[in-house]
Amino acid sequence: MPALAPNSTVAVTGAAGFIGGWVVRDLLDRGHRVRACVRDTADDTKVGFLRAMPAFASGRLTLHSADLDQPGCFDTVFHGCDGVAHVSHVSTYDDAEYVQRTCDHIIASVERSGSVRRVVVTSSVAAVISEADITELVRRPICDEDRYPDESNPKRTPARGQGYSIGKVIAQRAFADAAADSPTGWDAITVCPADNVGPIQSAHQQRGGPWQQLIAQMLRGRCEIFQGTGPYRPWMTVDVRDDAACHAGLLESEHVANGERYIAWSTERRNYEDVVATIDRVLPELRHDPGPIVDNTPERHKAREAEFRSIWAGCELRNDRIKAAIPIVFRPLDVSIRDCVESLIAVGGVQPQRRPE
Ligand SMILES: NC(=O)c1ccc[n+]([C@@H]2O[C@H](COP(=O)([O-])OP(=O)(O)OC[C@H]3O[C@@H](n4cnc5c(N)ncnc54)[C@H](OP(=O)(O)O)[C@@H]3O)[C@@H](O)[C@H]2O)c1
Repeated sequence: MPALAPNSTVAVTGAAGFIGGWVVRDLLDRGHRVRACVRDTADDTKVGFLRAMPAFASGRLTLHSADLDQPGCFDTVFHGCDGVAHVSHVSTYDDAEYVQRTCDHIIASVERSGSVRRVVVTSSVAAVISEADITELVRRPICDEDRYPDESNPKRTPARGQGYSIGKVIAQRAFADAAADSPTGWDAITVCPADNVGPIQSAHQQRGGPWQQLIAQMLRGRCEIFQGTGPYRPWMTVDVRDDAACHAGLLESEHVANGERYIAWSTERRNYEDVVATIDRVLPELRHDPGPIVDNTPERHKAREAEFRSIWAGCELRNDRIKAAIPIVFRPLDVSIRDCVESLIAVGGVQPQRRPE
């Protein structure tokens, strides 16, 4: 299959983002030329960290403005590229036609480039495990690449919070189908990252995530059990640097084929309250004072806490497929939390709440 050769040219969408920024750095470290796509190259608060990379000084890294809501947005940027890492978010996942349209814009630019041979599309584990009925995870607890959410459930709608998962599945299929039908010969590989934890490279990235944002709140002494991905779901993590290595590795791999997807997670999982406790365990010198942990879970879900926790504990997280496709060793979550905390303080300017000496 058309794997990326050494010293290739790769465009990265969402390059100013948390994951995209690390994908840029990883590709540069591997020797590739990178075209970093952002919405506004003049916004130094977002792109300053890219401009500060040594490869920007030489010209091996270049910056490009593109908004994927506009047809033809990447025509010029992709021209002459060998690969594309499509990491960027879209403006909403709750409108399936809009999501399809943004994919069509990128696919058209890939076709017109005449040079792109592989696209790696960033999806999410939400496209693997996000269920409208959580008991589906009891019936099908093995979380690997073959698992899809129950798409026949009538409650699988954006109104019920499933838009993100639906949109990610649409994108995966749009790229794989277009590549299969393409006269120009490229392939599309999907990566499904789990919960990204690790160092931010730019202050603005502390507001994304949500995982680094939650750690910033913990540092400030505002701890509220997170329900955004479902009640009492543990964090199921990947270090953002390992996620970037998965993106780059899949661009380079000869052992992958169009339409395949790969989950990027270490398979470690940790409950919210244990993530809070980890900060003091890995960085005792910080004297972190998290304050009380507040549980604002709705009462109807609180009543089912033991059931939710047991459903998640019964899930089997698999990462053997990506480990067979690319050389990757996943960092321990302790390291990701430590490096995230240190970057939030040093790069993000977060002031931790501390116990007295
Ligand atoms: N973070 C996680 O834990 C996680 C887990 C699973 C999957 N993912 C997926 O990974 C990808 C990156 O996530 P992230 O956490 O790195 O997010 P992020 O920090 O918010 O970065 C996302 C980037 O998307 C760009 N973007 C949004 N709308 C755009 C548009 N209309 N046109 C062009 N660019 C647009 C933004 O670009 P500008 O800054 O230039 O405006 C932003 O830098 C997403 O696809 C997300 O669904 C993330």
